Amino acid sequence: MNKTILDVCCGSRMFYYAANDERLLCNDIRYLDDILCDGRKLTIHPDTEYDFRDLPFEDDKFYHVVFDPPHLLNVGDNSWLAQKYGKLPNGWRTYIKQGFGECMRVLKRNGTLVMKWNTRDISLPELLSVVGKPLYGDKGHGNGTYWLIYVK
Ligand SMILES: C[S@@+](CC[C@H](N)C(=O)[O-])C[C@H]1O[C@@H](n2cnc3c(N)ncnc32)[C@H](O)[C@@H]1O
Repeated sequence: MNKTILDVCCGSRMFYYAANDERLLCNDIRYLDDILCDGRKLTIHPDTEYDFRDLPFEDDKFYHVVFDPPHLLNVGDNSWLAQKYGKLPNGWRTYIKQGFGECMRVLKRNGTLVMKWNTRDISLPELLSVVGKPLYGDKGHGNGTYWLIYVK
């Protein structure tokens, strides 16, 4: 497999400009076709369906890893938000810590990990107390979304 970029929880690949880049391996724990309550289609077709807490890849494999995990706690299990983005379990700290740890493990030395986070339910300081500080980052356009860049 010649894939050098791993997205560990790609969802419906909404933020991609080049979702079909041949270097990209898209993983998600869900494979589904659904209709949201407002009639929009939800399509999640990952290449692989592994749990990001336990990835079956060797250490130091990928040049670039993308980690955009669920960030919502206070949503109904059947809400469209939960359907679209997933919902964190109550033990979210362990969940995110394990996922982040696996991303770092499979990343090559000097490779980059980009993590996306939204602070609707969990603040940035709370998140960083779990995953550590990035090298640098950027805040989205006032909607609570952050892009965090780590270099292994
Ligand atoms: C915020 S969404 C990702 C959105 C995506 N970046 C996009 O552009 O559409 C989070 C995704 O994480 C997936 N997910 C949740 N727990 C997971 C796990 N343990 N392993 C792999 N994927 C998981 C969910 O199924 C959901 O699709």
